[in-house]
Amino acid sequence: MSIRQIADGWALETKSTAYVFGLNSGGMLIHRYWGARLPGENDYPPAPSSAIWLSFNGPGQLAREEYPAWGGQSFVEPCLKATFSTGVRDVVLNFESATIGENRDGVQELRLRLSDKHYPLVVDLFYRAHEEYDLIERWAVVTNLGTEPILLERAWSCLWHLPLDNRYRLSHVSGRCLNEMQLHRESLAPGKKVIESRRLTTSHHAKPWFAVDRGNADEESGEVWFGTLAWSGNWKLVAETTDFGSTRIGIGVNDWDFAWRLDSKGGASSSLVLPACVAGWTEGGFGAASRALHDYVRGELLPHRPALHPVLYNSWEATYYDVDAPSQTKLATIAAGMGVELFVVDDGWFQGRKTDNAGLGDWRPDERKFPQGLGPLIQKVNALGMGFGLWVEPEMVNPDSDLYRAHPDWVIHFPTRARTEGRNQLILNCARLDVQEHLIATLDKLLSENNIAFIKWDMNRNVSEPGWPGAPGDPRELWVRYVQGLYRIWGTLRERHPTVTWQSCAGGDARADFGILRLADQIWPSDNTLADSRLAIQEGFSQFFPANVMEAWVTDAARERLSLEFRFHVSMCGALGVGCDLNKLSAEELRQAAQLIAMYKEIRPIVQLGHQYRLRSAQQSPFSAVQYVSSDCSAGVLFAFRTHIAGYDSTVTLPALFLRGLQTDWLYEVEGFSGARSGAAWMRVGLRIELKDFQSTIRRIHRV
Ligand code: GLA
Repeated sequence: MSIRQIADGWALETKSTAYVFGLNSGGMLIHRYWGARLPGENDYPPAPSSAIWLSFNGPGQLAREEYPAWGGQSFVEPCLKATFSTGVRDVVLNFESATIGENRDGVQELRLRLSDKHYPLVVDLFYRAHEEYDLIERWAVVTNLGTEPILLERAWSCLWHLPLDNRYRLSHVSGRCLNEMQLHRESLAPGKKVIESRRLTTSHHAKPWFAVDRGNADEESGEVWFGTLAWSGNWKLVAETTDFGSTRIGIGVNDWDFAWRLDSKGGASSSLVLPACVAGWTEGGFGAASRALHDYVRGELLPHRPALHPVLYNSWEATYYDVDAPSQTKLATIAAGMGVELFVVDDGWFQGRKTDNAGLGDWRPDERKFPQGLGPLIQKVNALGMGFGLWVEPEMVNPDSDLYRAHPDWVIHFPTRARTEGRNQLILNCARLDVQEHLIATLDKLLSENNIAFIKWDMNRNVSEPGWPGAPGDPRELWVRYVQGLYRIWGTLRERHPTVTWQSCAGGDARADFGILRLADQIWPSDNTLADSRLAIQEGFSQFFPANVMEAWVTDAARERLSLEFRFHVSMCGALGVGCDLNKLSAEELRQAAQLIAMYKEIRPIVQLGHQYRLRSAQQSPFSAVQYVSSDCSAGVLFAFRTHIAGYDSTVTLPALFLRGLQTDWLYEVEGFSGARSGAAWMRVGLRIELKDFQSTIRRIHRV
């Protein structure tokens, strides 16, 4: 069993890791150990007894509490902060009980109940050990068992403690729209490093993901503790190093402008279920940390697991809003000839949509563009052998729309303030039940009346004036209830239309997280489709997302500078899509594109479902390489890219590439190199590839 009770605590053991905590002599729930799995249960250190240090620091300050609440003499970051109806703002959580059992799906779970000494507040901590993936999953549920409301001002999912050390380094990603997922590594010193989103969605700017090492890990080796929060709304991550040398990562729903009123016992709002965080430890460096998350996403999270995505064509960059049946039919015919398997009509197809200032909210085909509805186009696309996909942006409304004219009160707003528009649009308040019902009914109708295989679900602005007039609880519950509402809408549609594939897009990756991956099958990483920028974005994306969820289009961006082959090679590192204006491609380019698509189909299972190795970083070097290996290690694909290397000599010798993930004693051939060599040789001796500026290559690897 992977979760078991041991002396003075509980051990969660996976294939090669262990996470241990327990009660100390003072009855506090204390973190004990997180790292390599050890042979015996006595090998895990005991929970230290609570201490005080002079009169300035109480046990709450010194102990490494598993789920600290704000109360007593504690000045570290707590997981929970609450105000009781009496005005008391001090929470005292005591251990009450522990159960190890199976949930409804037969998954083993540990549930610990903590309860306040005086008030009817309970916190249930849930744990799962994902043995195969070497990951631990945790979340918390906060409940009011009494009759008076309790106001929560912070409710995090968990706190992850690292072994005592003072050399920690935090890796995280930051960026912005069009330049997402840039990796940063920085040393942690006493104090706090905070990353967060206050934008209603996960955000382009930072992600709820961390990797902490002792300052010495690389892609291949070194201890790394890593994790990510499954939540698509405001979140906060605090990496704190206390003045007593303890480093911990607190993560959860953002407490900024947050409030949650827990109503009396049994009511619909008497409990708050917090999002799960999945985390792990490895000594295989950042590469192994990523691969553990990739496997978990494909094996556990994704609704269609494990899905191999078709090659799609998306007409956005070809026709923008000028979408109509003839233009799309023409593109579809060319796309089918190239080997495309799914044809997606993007923005512009619905009622009143000429540009971005009208139509959002009115999700029925525009009568002038599609006089007979979408049916004839879909039939044509299907007859060409392709599935049909459609773009929607359900949470949004243009003031110039029938929906807004009918329900101006449905948007997020404060009554006395301007309704600031972003891209001429406002946000429907998905926390409202009537809005949820409306969106479910509208999209259900669209999906029932048309043979739609794929939906691209977009969200193109950040929030402003986050008001909720008439909110049933505290209006600041909007931040969480919006996301819960979105999950309900999307989840209901998924249930009703189980064969549809869904893409999460938010003007790029502003809704890229493990929460949405329970609903979406793939993610759009960036609106920046410049292949050379994309190399860096894709690499950041791969820190925690596998290649099969990464939609990647070949477009016309910088076609004068970047060859079709280079652009294809970059997109072939994920779920390949094409977004070029196909009308402008020459016969020769169409032939080349068809060849590359055919090649992609051959390597697709390895790229989308294999193990990924970042051999050389595109964020750090103009010569980069990434390799994918099939899970049985019998085949692989190597991609190498050169962008611009300054200097007169365009044929500078590039550093050797050392392959990864092969079986040392098996023989392999690598395309372009004569003779079979052992896996050990390809990995230790390496190979050299010559590339000029903005050239790329793909080399297939197979076992002989
Ligand atoms: C967003 C998306 C794009 C495209 C446009 C359409 O920007 O990220 O891919 O769908 O919206 O308006």
